[in-house]
Amino acid sequence: MEVVPLGPGFAAELRGTTLAEIAKDDAAYAAARAAFEEHSVLVFRGQDASDEGQLAFSRRFGPPEVTKVGSLGTGSHFVILTTIGADGKVVPPDHRYALRNRANQLWHTDSSFKSVPALTSILSARTIPARGGETEYVSTRLAFERLDAGLRKKLENSFAWHDYAHSRGKITADLASPEERAALPPQCWRMVWKNPVNGRGALYLASHAYAVEGMDETAGKKLIDELTEAATTPDVSYVHQWKSGDVVMWDNRATMHRGRPWPAHEARLMVRTTISATAADGLESMRPPSQQAAE
Ligand SMILES: [Fe+2]
Repeated sequence: MEVVPLGPGFAAELRGTTLAEIAKDDAAYAAARAAFEEHSVLVFRGQDASDEGQLAFSRRFGPPEVTKVGSLGTGSHFVILTTIGADGKVVPPDHRYALRNRANQLWHTDSSFKSVPALTSILSARTIPARGGETEYVSTRLAFERLDAGLRKKLENSFAWHDYAHSRGKITADLASPEERAALPPQCWRMVWKNPVNGRGALYLASHAYAVEGMDETAGKKLIDELTEAATTPDVSYVHQWKSGDVVMWDNRATMHRGRPWPAHEARLMVRTTISATAADGLESMRPPSQQAAE
């Protein structure tokens, strides 16, 4: 297995291995896991990704999420990201699928709005447009390390609220349905996720974040916006240009990502599996002290 760095200080391609090998071989998994902890985004090219193969690979990293209500694939371990409607045609721009793609184009980390956030997301390209539709990543670990020591200390002891309805509300007021709102109440997480393997902290931010515990609404929002801007400043991203057979996995604890647009008439179908964070991934220290005490 060869680890080829791709991005500005993070992201790497793993060559000479396959999802199937990592799924069945302990040594291959250990090497891939070490690369994941170190590089935050891993790219696999030329994979033959079936749903079953992708899930078997994903399970290596922890427990798979069950897809939430209101998403395509609900109740399964797969999230289907598509602009192809039931009639087999690309949906119009005001369709919910298209609006959700616009929400995916905001900088975010997956599942910070869930009661158990995600360690990693694994995305495979099934149908891709001829151009556009890239996924762009930044390292929130490197972003955290760029901040001054005083602010780093403050953030390590600060907590932010995340809400799915908040990020969807940036696109249209009713994009999060009443059913989704009821299933996904706001969650509060520490603003820095410390990786237990290497001890490095990362900003834990997302388009879902809307308030900082103990700060007034305006000041909290300003802090979230300033940190997001600092994390996504030009020239710090890795832009993944999808090719057929690509699978990309990323560390939701240490990155943010966003989808990039593509010509609206072109079809795009991606399949995501998502692995929940566990205590071994540093989850418990992310909870606010009030919740730690209550458990
Ligand atoms: Fe995402």
